[in-house]
Amino acid sequence: MAVLDPTSSTEQSVSSLPYREPLPSDDHVFPLTWYAVMQAKALTTKPIKRTLLGKDVVLYRDHKGHVRCLEAYCSHRGADLSLGKCVDDQIHCAYHGWAFDQDGQCRSIPAHPDRPIPDFAHIVAYPTQERAGLIWIYPEDKRLASPPDLEVFPELEDASFTLSFYEAKWQAHLTRVVESVLDIAHLAFVHKKTIGRRLQPEIKQVRFSVPSSDRIIIENGGGLLDYVFPGQWMLKAAMGKSGFINYVTFTPISSHETLIFGYAGRTFLRKMPLMNWLFSKQSSKILEEDRLVVESQHPRPIPQALQMEAHVPADGPQVRFRQRWYQFLAYEEKRIMTKE
Ligand code: FES
Ligand SMILES: [Fe+2]
Repeated sequence: MAVLDPTSSTEQSVSSLPYREPLPSDDHVFPLTWYAVMQAKALTTKPIKRTLLGKDVVLYRDHKGHVRCLEAYCSHRGADLSLGKCVDDQIHCAYHGWAFDQDGQCRSIPAHPDRPIPDFAHIVAYPTQERAGLIWIYPEDKRLASPPDLEVFPELEDASFTLSFYEAKWQAHLTRVVESVLDIAHLAFVHKKTIGRRLQPEIKQVRFSVPSSDRIIIENGGGLLDYVFPGQWMLKAAMGKSGFINYVTFTPISSHETLIFGYAGRTFLRKMPLMNWLFSKQSSKILEEDRLVVESQHPRPIPQALQMEAHVPADGPQVRFRQRWYQFLAYEEKRIMTKE
């Protein structure tokens, strides 16, 4: 089980990267990595459909509780498998009863029980795992995939934290969503009625470090904002002996829609269920303040080169993120392309 190591310190510069002309398709390219698709406790043996990177998938738990994920449409006549049902460890299509196992292999064609099952009857299966109360999918065919370890912040699996869940769906490109959580200067404006109400607009200095090529740590008012490329972020608030964190992870549904799953975590007042509700509500409210602005941004993804928007010193962490994103686009890192 991998956790994020806050002590790693491999500074990597991207300033010497060769320049590559942006491609029109860049808006549709995303890192191939683990993405959260739903809260784990919401998944039962009843199949459920989700969309990740423009692909519809069906998820269910088998009779042992293991999470399974297959492409959403049956290889026979394309019926939606989320209309089907889980029997033992297989999903049965609602239309003609074909049964598929956890690897997407077709195991039964009820209309022809005595005939061999053709190879082309299989459907794509995806690697899954359950971590930090979320279900994560690695969006590559299980037969080809060699997924990396999924790293999560240790606080999310630390029993001394009580986590209040929240989620949102934004009509925005992943890159714009990421930048919204690396932005210090917006707090006094977008969040002037909530977390930014005591903040001044002037940013004298943004103190941030880049302990590894995939990480940006920003010091903010005694707390830390810890971002891990491409889609995880945590606020670690300075609160003396008590602990408070706020976590979000971003999942591209398509090139223009992003899902956000979050937790507000605390080590105090843990026995008060009302506090769970309050923390979820407040976190959703703050996120909603961001949504209106982020959904308004044009172009929809970040522009394709640094010089195409104006930057000031307060934008330092975002510029660093852009450098990392352009590095991703320019190099042969594993990627996945959406059709929409
Ligand atoms: S469409 Fe699924 S069994 Fe026919
Ligand atoms: Fe914000």
